[in-house]
Amino acid sequence: MKVLVVGKGGREHAIITAIAESPTETEIYSFPGSDAIFSIARPLEAASGTLDSVASIIAAIQKTGIDLCVAGEESYLVRDEGLANACKAAGIPCWGPPKESAQLEASKEFAKEFMVRHGIPTGGYATVDTIEEARAAIDGKYPTVLKFDGLAAGKGVAVCPDEASAEEFLQEVLVDRKFGEGRLLVEEFLEGPEISIFVSVVDRNFQILAPARDYKRIYDGDEGPNTGGMGAVSSLEMLDDELRDFIEGEMVRPTVEGLINDGLPYRGFLYFGLMLTADGPKMLEYNCRFGDPEAQAVLPMISGDFAQYVYEGAKGHLKPDLIQFADGWSICLVSASAGYPASSRNGDVISGLDQVTGARVFHAGTRRNADGEFETAGGRVLVVVAPGATRQEAVKKVYAESDKVTFDGRQRRSDIGTRNF
Ligand code: AMP
Ligand code: GLY
Repeated sequence: MKVLVVGKGGREHAIITAIAESPTETEIYSFPGSDAIFSIARPLEAASGTLDSVASIIAAIQKTGIDLCVAGEESYLVRDEGLANACKAAGIPCWGPPKESAQLEASKEFAKEFMVRHGIPTGGYATVDTIEEARAAIDGKYPTVLKFDGLAAGKGVAVCPDEASAEEFLQEVLVDRKFGEGRLLVEEFLEGPEISIFVSVVDRNFQILAPARDYKRIYDGDEGPNTGGMGAVSSLEMLDDELRDFIEGEMVRPTVEGLINDGLPYRGFLYFGLMLTADGPKMLEYNCRFGDPEAQAVLPMISGDFAQYVYEGAKGHLKPDLIQFADGWSICLVSASAGYPASSRNGDVISGLDQVTGARVFHAGTRRNADGEFETAGGRVLVVVAPGATRQEAVKKVYAESDKVTFDGRQRRSDIGTRNF
């Protein structure tokens, strides 16, 4: 089976590794890919010219004879005619939803309206177009949560403790148009531990995979600016039966039924970002893909035939028995480059990659230099993932292995897997 995985980060490195380790024989292709990914996958070659549009990707898929397209990241799902839409038109099974369904991630207003329409618990909100409307909606209540209604690479959300920080964000988004044209959501501030639930959705059917928790701030103690994620923890033990039943009955099932009722087809991973408030679990957001870096923590816990599982799912057959989840815990620790998240430093040589034992390394922002060594090439550079029978064991192991893989200016949190438990 020829599989194409679209994306280039640590999540895609983890997805490709899970496919490569599946018993089903595969020939894996990647676009855009990375040097690390290209040690286990082949680059997708353009049919002609360059791969700069969904149509050109489809032409390359057809020329290569790809049997399955897996969308790792979200951007291609909503670009041009939509990657999954174009795959469908070309008769190629795709793991990832069509453009109209991917609005659940691409538009926060669309997502909120969907949740309200289908009775899914979430915080209150108002949608505004101008700074005056925003001030009226905030109504002097702080903290307040402001969200740009569009894709903003994780930078479009501000939790504002006071008027000054809210005014600054409103200015950037509604006046300076930092993220371009778009509306703004003013949301009720919610408090509590966050948890991410990953679900495989195949039309009317779904399977809840292992849950995870990520750490979004750059510094220990959840201080400092937001990042794409500095680490993640996953274990089936994070959900007790009561919480699992609530999430399944009040969030996942109504979402899957809501998609059907609204005429929104869906085959792929659906990510439920939620907060466990004193008032019960509330939805924060949907993402139409696996989390990054959560995928890097969750996927190594899966055994069975992940490649076949995704292929069958993309063809409309959800087969839960094709995969199994390990007991215990899995912890993923990010090493970021100097300057991240404001900037990133490239070209620092990474040492110790061959010293890691009993853990995995997934590359997020690396490249090979002229001597063939891996060096930094981005903000989040790599993750180390380690398992443990207990959370404490996994923490100890992941730090011990990550200590071996270093580069100048490396930034790492020291409380991944301990904070928020
Ligand atoms: P989102 O992209 O919507 O998940 O928001 C990114 C992060 O902002 C979340 O993971 C939360 O940490 C925080 N956040 C989002 N919405 C709220 C809210 N209504 N109340 C408090 N924090 C929030
Ligand atoms: N780790 C959060 C995300 O993937 O959106």
